[in-house]
Amino acid sequence: MNAVIDALEFRHACKKFDPKKKISDKKLGIILEAACLSPSSFGMEAWKFLILESKDIREQLRPACWDQAQITDASHVIVILARPSLVAPSNDYVKANFSRRELPEDATLAYIDRYKWYMETEVLPRMSTYAWCAKQCYIALANIMTAAASMGIDSCPMEGFVKDKVESILNIDKKECEVAVLVALGFRAGGQTPRQRHESKTLIEYR
Ligand SMILES: Cc1cc2nc3c(=O)[nH]c(=O)nc-3n(C[C@H](O)[C@H](O)[C@H](O)COP(=O)(O)O)c2cc1C
Repeated sequence: MNAVIDALEFRHACKKFDPKKKISDKKLGIILEAACLSPSSFGMEAWKFLILESKDIREQLRPACWDQAQITDASHVIVILARPSLVAPSNDYVKANFSRRELPEDATLAYIDRYKWYMETEVLPRMSTYAWCAKQCYIALANIMTAAASMGIDSCPMEGFVKDKVESILNIDKKECEVAVLVALGFRAGGQTPRQRHESKTLIEYR
């Protein structure tokens, strides 16, 4: 009926992957394209996608991820990294990002001012820059899972990990990046557990 709903119906948080099945490079490329096409607040794209294929690395990582089998049994694990150090309003990266729009210089400067105001007034009193960047990373996470599901590829979003340990095992330079969330991708082994959802009428309100 609708390709997006079909994909969302197919998707579930896959707990048991078939370790023998691999995602093709072509399909992985499409999934990564969906990640990179994701929107981010002010277009900051303060993220990075680290693809873990190596079984060795994933064996090392698994204990830091609550020993969850998805880490080693999935075809691939994508570590979505937030890049809070990029988005300080004074950073040249911010100016370069707004300059991509090729607006007149005064309009670019006005954007930077608006962004500075927004970060200082609305974001930083409520959360860290890391948390703000991580929120954007979750948009990419959703697109990764939906793109995968549209091609019959299963996924499991994963917050069940010890952040410091994962960063240390993966040698992440925390001045550059911090782990936001992980997603395991591959093919289900066995069935899907029944989906639990609150009734939409309890969640949707019109005014
Ligand atoms: C951000 C996020 C983190 C999650 N972390 C884990 C995890 O570490 N391990 C796991 O098995 N499931 C994890 N889940 C899966 C949820 O438990 C699951 O999505 C929820 O129970 C709804 O089930 P469904 O996705 O199969 O519809 C996570 C889901 C989200 C959105």
